[in-house]
Amino acid sequence: MVQKKIIKKYKICVIGAGHVGLVAAASFSELGHRVICVDSDKKKIEGLKKLIVPFYEPDLEKLVRENTKKKNLLFMPSLDEGIKKSDVVFIAVGTPPQPDGSADLTSIEDVAHRIAKNLVSYKLIVEKSTVPVQTGQKIKETIQRYKKNTTHFDVASNPEFLREGKAVYDFFHPDRIVIGVESRRAENILKEIYHSLKASIIVTDINTAELIKHASNSFLATKISFINAVSRICDCAGADVEKVAEAMGMDERIGNQFLQTGVGYGGFCFPKDLEAFLYISKKLGYDFGLLREVKKINEEQRVYFVEKIKEHLWVIKDKRIGILGLSFKPNTDDIRFAPSLDIIRLLLEEGARLTLYDPQVKKERVFWSLRSQKEKSSSEETIAQIKFAKTPYEAVKGCDCACFITEWDELKKIDFKKIKELMHYPLIADGRNMFTPQVLGKMGFKYIGIGRV
Ligand code: UDX
Repeated sequence: MVQKKIIKKYKICVIGAGHVGLVAAASFSELGHRVICVDSDKKKIEGLKKLIVPFYEPDLEKLVRENTKKKNLLFMPSLDEGIKKSDVVFIAVGTPPQPDGSADLTSIEDVAHRIAKNLVSYKLIVEKSTVPVQTGQKIKETIQRYKKNTTHFDVASNPEFLREGKAVYDFFHPDRIVIGVESRRAENILKEIYHSLKASIIVTDINTAELIKHASNSFLATKISFINAVSRICDCAGADVEKVAEAMGMDERIGNQFLQTGVGYGGFCFPKDLEAFLYISKKLGYDFGLLREVKKINEEQRVYFVEKIKEHLWVIKDKRIGILGLSFKPNTDDIRFAPSLDIIRLLLEEGARLTLYDPQVKKERVFWSLRSQKEKSSSEETIAQIKFAKTPYEAVKGCDCACFITEWDELKKIDFKKIKELMHYPLIADGRNMFTPQVLGKMGFKYIGIGRV
């Protein structure tokens, strides 16, 4: 997987065994470092000791298994012990969104206190969690304020650019590694930790590194919303957004990635990071109105898609609709801020009878998500009527519409002949423009895409 020659082995503590922390911990251990991964969730740590990875991420379980066996990777619930036994501490705890859009930094502050308490020898403290710009300074001030001796320490920022579903691959093949530091010592340690990856390393100050993360995620979200806005004009003008995106992407200055039209972006990063960037920009004195528009376009895209289905079926009440693909993107079981949840809510409001299918997402998780967001949640009665199918074919049986929301490979390869026989009315609503309208048309399907002729 990677050139394993490293120049120095570090004792690393990763705080937080979530998506960012666990991938980083397992991957650092694969690079040959000695890693302790701690998490306050004792059940999670007990599971990990038994090699149970708490979420689906390709190749992660293998890394955890192999490196635990080699004793390069250890899991423990004690933060204090983890910190004391390490030279470098990576903070990868959650920074969930608050109602006003700002990031909740309670866990980061708590960790900074614990580091101060356990600072028995020099340590490099690295923030890996996605945090608002200037958080590094706050971590430094907190440790400085509460440490009990004169022990020296450094704080650094090393933002994470991993994509869910490709996280392990991304760790070993980064486009760049960003390190924000205040001392040569911190810079050298981080360079040595990542030495065997042979990636380009951008060295900056801490604020700049934090801002690179804000700017990168927000720019990618902007790119998606831009092409989604173009798709709306394409629908009005009778043009094909897929061709527009293809031709735009061939211009090297634009690039062909993140120009896929559809029901918009979801996941735990883009929606949350965009809000946090908007919030912190305003706080610092700049109103980043462009990002508000990006968010608005993204939210409207789901509504627009459901309106198109409604336009075709006329009345949605009591119509049977199969929802295929629930995760916010393929190769993950994550449905946080997934477009599917908004689409399900909107269809339930119209009185549709839904059957859901996803290759990885568990039924309980969907019900929990539909119930949990207070301001948006659907009534208990309507949620209880949702059915779950074991196969995509079972989901569309007797349906008036098959609604594709996530472009899983399994769904891309679906047998449309079989689908046609099973459906009550052959309407395909393609939320990711995954299929060719003409091909489906020839097979006798009615097709709804986004921005397509
Ligand atoms: C993102 C960033 O890519 C990653 O660098 C950062 O560390 C975390 O946030 P992730 O949330 O895992 O990663 O997913 P990504 O693959 O970027 O997709 C995000 C969302 O955008 C998905 O819902 C996806 O379906 C959507 N998307 C992506 C589009 O709608 N169109 C596109 O062209 C690309």
